[in-house]
Amino acid sequence: MPAIHRGLAPATAFFALALTSGLVGPSSAAALEGNAERGKEIYHACEDCHTIDDNDVGPKHRGVVGRRAGSVPDYAYSPELKSSGIIWTEQALNRWLQNPQAMVPGTRMAFQLEDPQARADVIAFLKQYAKIEK
Ligand code: HEC
Repeated sequence: MPAIHRGLAPATAFFALALTSGLVGPSSAAALEGNAERGKEIYHACEDCHTIDDNDVGPKHRGVVGRRAGSVPDYAYSPELKSSGIIWTEQALNRWLQNPQAMVPGTRMAFQLEDPQARADVIAFLKQYAKIEK
């Protein structure tokens, strides 16, 4: 069995394993497999405020996965987000996109992505297209 999973992304392998062992069902958002191509479409909703390479209403996103929250040097964050100590892992991004103000009370991001699959997809997009520092 493990050989079958070798070529898959870790999240995929985890999901398959978790399903087999009955640990999680489809309601466990963190285990959903994201699709970066779909995520690229969903990202258009983020573009009201964000781009990959320029600060706008919100901070630029290049390199955001794995980055410390509030760390783009030339963007004026809320003090709440800047001092949150969050590292943008996929799990943290999933919580954030579900409800930023519940995760970081006082943040200025007023936008929620309620669909767990849409969150997984946009996170996959951010991972694939925005991971490289410029
Ligand atoms: C209505 C405007 C708006 C929309 C739409 C929006 N954001 Fe934001 N976002 C912000 C603002 C403003 C901040 C900075 C919040 C603060 O400083 O408290 C932010 C911060 C963030 C951060 C933290 C970045 C960092 O450097 O710490 C992430 C990640 C993020 N947004 C992702 C997204 C994604 C992904 C989407 C689309 C699914 C999205 N945002 C849609 C306004 C928006």
